[in-house]
Amino acid sequence: MTVQEVEGLGTRGYFIRSAFLGEARAVAVRDVALARMASGSLRPAGIRRGADRTQDSSVRGDLIEWVLPEPDTPLGELWESFRTLGDALSTGAYLGLGRFDLQLACYPGGGAHYSRHRDAFPGQSNRRATAVWYANAGWEPAHGGVLRLYPEGSAPVDVAPVLDTLVVFLSERIEHEVLPAYATRLALTAWYYGRAAG
Ligand code: OGA
Ligand code: MN
Repeated sequence: MTVQEVEGLGTRGYFIRSAFLGEARAVAVRDVALARMASGSLRPAGIRRGADRTQDSSVRGDLIEWVLPEPDTPLGELWESFRTLGDALSTGAYLGLGRFDLQLACYPGGGAHYSRHRDAFPGQSNRRATAVWYANAGWEPAHGGVLRLYPEGSAPVDVAPVLDTLVVFLSERIEHEVLPAYATRLALTAWYYGRAAG
């Protein structure tokens, strides 16, 4: 982590890094993600409504699959990069992170979006940091699917979901939304838990 990244997380609650893996590895992950999508293994994401999980594409229109550590594959290498990132966040930003979950998400276009939300609520969850990595080669503004962050007390910040861009934010602090996507939009998201979590 750079000094600017540590400072960004501490003062604004987020930072953005434009090249996380390097182009060759990023393209390899993209190819695997596209193949998983094509194979039909992704499922519509659920949302929590009170105590229940339901599907409601007016809130959240992506298809998802959980990614497990796997040796010697592009997704496995990405998993390792997220693990290293978590260690760096703990050491550099004193976040005290433990395990993480990693999810592949695909918005199939057609205006699929994810309404404004937080990934964790103070006291209700032990998700502490969210890291989203994008796999969209050739992204253009007309493709939509921009991530809009709502930092407390300042103007919204838009993140284009361009190949190999990484955004990290504090899960309890930053509200965010995915604006309608008009082309296939791929992202891999890691949620890091505090060390006390099981
Ligand atoms: C999420 C989410 C953001 C993105 O899955 O909780 O907010 O840019 N994703 O895909
Ligand atoms: Mn989210």
